[in-house]
Amino acid sequence: MAEHDATSDEAEKLAQSPEDLEAAGRKLDAQKAGARVGLTSDEIIINGGRPLKGRIEVRGAKNLATKAMVAALLGKSPSVLRNVPNISDVRVVAGLLALHGVLITRGDDPGEWRLDPSNVEVAHQADIDAHAGSSRIPILFCGPLLHRLGEAFIPDLGGCRIGDRPIDFHLDALRKFGAVIEKLPSGISLTAPHGLKGANIELPYPSVGATEQVLLTSVLAEGQTELRNAAIEPEIIDLICILQKMGAIISVEPNRVIFIEGVPELRGYDHRAIFDRNEAASWAAAALATKGDVFVGGVKQEEMMTFLNVFRKVGGDFDVHDDGIRFWHPGGDLKPVTIETDVHPGFMTDWQQPLVVALTQAQGVSTIHETVYENRFGFTDALNKMGADITVYKDGLSDPRRRVKRREFEQAAVITGPVPLRGADIEVPDLRGGFSHLIAALTAEGQSKVTNLGIISRGYENFIEKLRLLGADFVFES
Ligand code: EPU
Repeated sequence: MAEHDATSDEAEKLAQSPEDLEAAGRKLDAQKAGARVGLTSDEIIINGGRPLKGRIEVRGAKNLATKAMVAALLGKSPSVLRNVPNISDVRVVAGLLALHGVLITRGDDPGEWRLDPSNVEVAHQADIDAHAGSSRIPILFCGPLLHRLGEAFIPDLGGCRIGDRPIDFHLDALRKFGAVIEKLPSGISLTAPHGLKGANIELPYPSVGATEQVLLTSVLAEGQTELRNAAIEPEIIDLICILQKMGAIISVEPNRVIFIEGVPELRGYDHRAIFDRNEAASWAAAALATKGDVFVGGVKQEEMMTFLNVFRKVGGDFDVHDDGIRFWHPGGDLKPVTIETDVHPGFMTDWQQPLVVALTQAQGVSTIHETVYENRFGFTDALNKMGADITVYKDGLSDPRRRVKRREFEQAAVITGPVPLRGADIEVPDLRGGFSHLIAALTAEGQSKVTNLGIISRGYENFIEKLRLLGADFVFES
């Protein structure tokens, strides 16, 4: 989280009511004239209603780079990861790796990280504890640390509050490999008194994290592992490519089955991280909602196909180029859609929040069935405050046209449009919801103050600079 500067008291007084917003507007004018407005680095004032136009680059995926960094622990020699985004989740993982003796150096290209695990060592529990609540990635240290050190301590996990986010699949799988797990007040402690052995595992749901857990544990486990009902997201396939470069033997079979033949040792890898599909979809949705035209560099069609279909159905247009995809609003009315979020190759749960903002501008009623997490519509409260017409059904909605198997805890959001959004004072609740708030503020008429921006830095690299490149009208003081 960004630290507040000395002027935060003043900033807190800003934009609490329409009158305050007006005051914020006057301050904005003052700032344009050269004076500082007194915002903290966790806040931004956005003057909406201006289309985003221009080109930005998307780098490596948060949801691959962080896991690839953990994989480096498994190698006997150093690894080089390229295209690493400058986001706080990466820094959290780097901090944890450093605590365990991994030497991290940066190349001339700031996105190039060298991770040397030659001197991996047990870290002090108190130091690890300092990372409690900061990310969900530490759970993936279990297998690699058990292999390297015979023991692991994992602090309480963080990540977005979008549901219970249990770790039962992870722990059940680790036990099958032979890990002994003790739950402590501040985290979990693991040992493997008889080493880790290959296992037959069927996940109750194709969980991304649990699939990664099995991959990172099985590659050095003795014997074979068969994983059924595995997640097959592109980031998982990229992680498998990394592990194969390290010497692992992994085959991805039809029907979500993955076979892993354990090997006695692995070496380091040299790899360029796959691009961030979630960031790409977020900027595409921002282009659509603001009636803009944004070229998102570094993006590939294949991993975006499901998103691109929906983008087109809603009325957006795109052109695929060798070095990225151009997304734009071609004019005319946007059309409503019905979407069910799902595991890959379905429509990602992380894509719905930015798209919902564009759907507030569509002519008619859209429905989103959220089937992956049980609480991922909290961000819509702020959109309604800005004038949107969104009703959330906390127990979901029956719909005979559904294709995704209904889950017990799912919810649905019904979005009626088009409605003009108006500027408001809003607070970022979680990563993807937060980015959708930025899009809403950019789309709205008038001025918005968006606070708690630090959460967005967890997963969106240099987003303030990118807003600037796209011609957004805002005030931000770092
Ligand atoms: N689940 C369990 N038990 C478990 C693990 C998962 O019940 O032990 C449930 C979850 O509660 C959820 C579902 O399974 O209902 C899917 O969770 P999954 O394990 O697939 O998610 P994750 O690994 O925790 C990753 C991404 C998320 C992304 C999901 C789905 C990372 C760090 N996070 O989470 O990304 O939404 O996969 O694709 O890779 C984000 O980037 O904003 C984000 C939340």
